[in-house]
Amino acid sequence: MKPYNCDNRPVGIFDSGLGGLTVVRAVQKALPHENIIYLGDTARVPYGNRSPETVRAFALDDVEFLRKWNVKAIVAACNTVSALALDTIRERIGGCPLTGVILPGAHAAISAKGKRIAVLGTRGTIDSKAYEIEILRENPSYFMQGIACPLFVPLAEEGITNGSIVQGVLELYLKPLKQTPPDIVLLGCTHYPLFREAIADYLPSTVTIIDSAHSTAAYLAQMLKENQMEASPEQAGFAQYYATDLTPGFDRIARRFLNASNTDSVTIRLASPFP
Ligand code: DGL
Repeated sequence: MKPYNCDNRPVGIFDSGLGGLTVVRAVQKALPHENIIYLGDTARVPYGNRSPETVRAFALDDVEFLRKWNVKAIVAACNTVSALALDTIRERIGGCPLTGVILPGAHAAISAKGKRIAVLGTRGTIDSKAYEIEILRENPSYFMQGIACPLFVPLAEEGITNGSIVQGVLELYLKPLKQTPPDIVLLGCTHYPLFREAIADYLPSTVTIIDSAHSTAAYLAQMLKENQMEASPEQAGFAQYYATDLTPGFDRIARRFLNASNTDSVTIRLASPFP
């Protein structure tokens, strides 16, 4: 029997590229009945080094694509978009429920033990101080530091998540954290969960590593509940994936972010029309 008020319209999730599939994976696990439309703006990735104005303009294009699918809620899985463009998106979409990943990620960090938090992210995210602002708003006694780690993004896209090159990059960015370890490292970028193990091995074992994907899924679940928009528990949710540019090997990269096996079929379609 269908419960009262079930809403089977899809949730729209978008990112600058395929990294946001780490959030899709968490959402599918937490909300298996929800349908998902995913957009990766692969033609214009990365967003992390762009000006706030450009990130906002790109984010609005992404949202317009999702709105064509009559989505009931939107998740900005991209940390850079969440840091720089959430208010702009909110203005555009009016009452449609929206979450980014910053607030859920900040709350996940606050719930962990310790007050010294290092945020790793793109230049855009780190320069915006978005995580810092959220966390210090809750409790000004936290000690925050931000480190931009731009090279992790192309490495993840290439499937290089361990080995000597990664060790060199860890040394480049995280040496200060090894010398003076924080309590918590917050992975403030869609791509960084792929380096979780390498980062954990590099830093002392006392450091807790957190990412925002799972807390974003929990946040979405709460948002759908509050708005009485949950999908019917009788349906198995589907996911449809779109990208603004398709190149060979995309399905392989997508599977990596979804943590799917090589035999799982992941079909990515070209997002068209797109500005
Ligand atoms: N999705 C971006 C983020 O989470 C990383 C990739 C990019 O720079 O666009 O900030």
